[in-house]
Formats: sequence, C-alpha cells, structure tokens
Amino acid sequence: MTLKLQRLGEDLIHEHICERYIELASRTESLKQDLGIFDRTRSDISIDIEPPPRTSKKRTKKKLPPTILDDRYNLTVEQSITSLHSNRDNSNSTTGYVLWSTTPFFLKWLLYDPQAISFRQGGIVDANVIYGMLKPSTGILELGGGTAGIMPVVLGNYVGTYICTDQRSLINRMQSNIKNNLLQLNKRRCVSKTLGFEPQFDDDEPAVNLETMPLDWEKFHLSHSTTPAELQPLAKCSTVYIVAMDVIYNDYLIDPFLRTLSLLLKFYQIKKYNTHCLVGIHLRAQEVVTEFLEKAVLEFDLPFSYIQSDSLDSSRFSLYFM
Ligand SMILES: C[S@@+](CC[C@H](N)C(=O)[O-])C[C@H]1O[C@@H](n2cnc3c(N)ncnc32)[C@H](O)[C@@H]1O
Repeated sequence: MTLKLQRLGEDLIHEHICERYIELASRTESLKQDLGIFDRTRSDISIDIEPPPRTSKKRTKKKLPPTILDDRYNLTVEQSITSLHSNRDNSNSTTGYVLWSTTPFFLKWLLYDPQAISFRQGGIVDANVIYGMLKPSTGILELGGGTAGIMPVVLGNYVGTYICTDQRSLINRMQSNIKNNLLQLNKRRCVSKTLGFEPQFDDDEPAVNLETMPLDWEKFHLSHSTTPAELQPLAKCSTVYIVAMDVIYNDYLIDPFLRTLSLLLKFYQIKKYNTHCLVGIHLRAQEVVTEFLEKAVLEFDLPFSYIQSDSLDSSRFSLYFM
C-alpha cells in the first residue's frame, strides 16, 4: 500500500475512530497494553534510533552512498519517575518528566519508513503538496516536547531551525538532556542562544539554530503584527512544521492546545510560510481522541488528515497532518 492522506471531514471522524479502535482491538496480543512510558523502570535510559534490519535477500555488490535511511542515533535520557508521580512538581502537570513512546516511534517512522518519503523530502500525496521536513529550509516548532529532548537532537541534524517548547519548569531538564546528547547532533553545527552556543561568523559549516523556549498553552498569546523574539529563529526558514507528540491525553488540555496551535498556524500562514502541522497521538481513551478531532475540525476549523500508512495503521499511534 502507498501512503494516503485521509481528510477528516465531520462525516468521517467517527468512521475513522471506529476503524482505528477496531484495528487496535484486533491486535491486543501483539501491541503493548501499557500507558506508553518508554521505560518506567529506570531514570537513565538509552534509546536507539536505528533503521530496521534489512529483510531483503537481494544483496547488491555496488556500495551505495549512505542516505538518511542509514543514519543511526544512540541517545541517553535522564528522566524522573519521582517527579512524574509527584503532586507538587510543576503544579501537578508532570507527564513531561519522562520519555513517552510516541516520540521514538515517530522518529523511526519519519527517518526510515519507505512510506514516509514525502515527509522526509517533500512530494505530492493525494493532491496535497507536502513540503519536506528534513531540509535546511525547514524550521520545526515542537509543542509539549517534554524533558527528554531527543527530537531536537535527532531532527536538528537535518533542519535549519528547531525550537523545542514546554512549560517553564521543564526547560532546565530539557536543556540538560539536549546538551548530554550533542555528540549525536553531528551533521550540522549547533548554534543556540538558550543553550549558550554562540555562532562563529567565519564558519561556513551548515548549522542548526536549536533553541528551547517556555510555551504554556494555557497562557499563550500572539500578536499578528510582531514576532516574539523567541520565535524569530524560524523567520529564516521557508517551511514551518509545528509538531506535537503525545500531548492529547486528557480532555482538559484539548482546548488550550488547539487554541495555541490555531494561533501559531494562522501567524505563519499570514506571513506566507509553507506551514504544516503533525500531531502524534498514543491511542488511549477513545472519547478523548474523538473530542480532539471533533473540536479541531468543527470548532477550530483545522483541516487535519489521518496519515494512512502500514506501520502506523498497525501501531498504537495515529499521526494527523495538515
Ligand atoms: C505525555 S507528555 C509527552 C512529552 C513528549 N512529547 C514525549 O513524547 O516524550 C505531554 C507533554 O505535554 C506537556 N504539556 C501539558 N500541558 C501543557 C501546557 N499547558 N502547555 C505546554 N505543554 C504542556 C507536558 O509538560 C508534557 O511534556
């Protein structure tokens, strides 16, 4: 099957949700039934983002030049299970203290899945133009990035700008994890005000501007006439991707998240950037996912499409794109 984009109009949301949850029910044996914490047994975890083993029997003698499909990353993350269970830390909003499985799953899909090629390098899918995500002209703004910091390090190897955001109390730990993994950001030089890596002006080496930024959906405002200084690094890119992994898990957060997303998307669309959004959801409570899609499409007028690809369809995750 080739990848398809299934546009979720009002009439299709329920059908889509039913299909996804029936599929999940049919795979209870093979899919993990846990909450989705990547590893809840340790505070120091290691994560390998590596291509799946090749199954093809065909072996070519000719050595092909390496591509993104050969790239490998080995990261370590310090997480806090104690803070996750605390009812004092970060005003009881504690999910960002650990790494969740949606993020490594998404990274592997994006980097290595043959069906994700249009998302890597751009293309046209079902008459939709997709601007490539893994390009120096792309800037990524991540919402609810958490403290693990693995997306900015891995994707920082390919893009021009990456801004990783979350609530203010999580930013120090996010910065520390990014710094600890900087050896894995080895295809571009990392320039960052917030991490303290100043640009070297005599240097022509390709660079990524990687910043961290507090951004709380419940407090977020944006004036359309001025660009806040923290969002300025995206200005040099022609394509802006807003990404959010596993941020839809309770109904209380849906409105503030969608309001923030909507403000940001309009801001970049008005300024004529090629603007895309990718939201990865770990499928837990069916009512929460349904409410998210209904509100996104009907109240906030966000034309999300479900990304239909073999590996996504057979997983516990859904990716929505616009
Ligand atoms: C389940 S965690 C996912 C974290 C990370 N994306 C991952 O996959 O490991 C949900 C994230 O949403 C963030 N979040 C929750 N409420 C938020 C808010 N009001 N503003 C900004 N981020 C928020 C949390 O701090 C947390 O980092």
